[in-house]
Amino acid sequence: MMQIVINGQSHNLQGVDPEMPLLWALRDLLGMVGTKYGCGVAQCGACTVWVDEVPVRACQMPVGTLTGRTITTIEGLAEGDVLHPVQSAWIAHDVAQCGYCQAGQIMSAAALLQRDPNPTPEAIEAAMAGNLCRCGTYTRILAAVQSAAQSLQATGFYEVRGGTDASDSSLGKAV
Ligand code: FES
Ligand code: FES
Repeated sequence: MMQIVINGQSHNLQGVDPEMPLLWALRDLLGMVGTKYGCGVAQCGACTVWVDEVPVRACQMPVGTLTGRTITTIEGLAEGDVLHPVQSAWIAHDVAQCGYCQAGQIMSAAALLQRDPNPTPEAIEAAMAGNLCRCGTYTRILAAVQSAAQSLQATGFYEVRGGTDASDSSLGKAV
């Protein structure tokens, strides 16, 4: 039996092939459908989650490699009702169109701001280059990341939610 920790909660995966990609375990075994399946071959970024706070492609991450590591998904980015500043900026800039790529976009953006709280536009574009958006929301993504960076500098890592909804489906909470 494997035990993995996701968003601070321990999960037992009994009888699961250790080669099963994390994305399958999240969606099909644990019902955590905020993380999306796009290409399945590490090319689109829709399935981006964090392992030990580093963004990775869940579609290519065998669950057998994850014991003792810290996994964070879009469902774990907010702290209760307090949205992550990136989520708040996404809502403020109305980034999502179809929404399909957005959980992965947000996870990559939040990871960028953890390692670089004041990125240049070029650094943002480089960090987000692996997250594709078929709806072409790139301009709004850039604006939202810049806005989140300003918010981080003004308020610290988290800001108090003000009229936003942590269950907003554009944040990857539901399919
Ligand atoms: S589904 Fe994982 S990168 Fe596309
Ligand atoms: S919002 Fe539709 S694919 Fe990005």
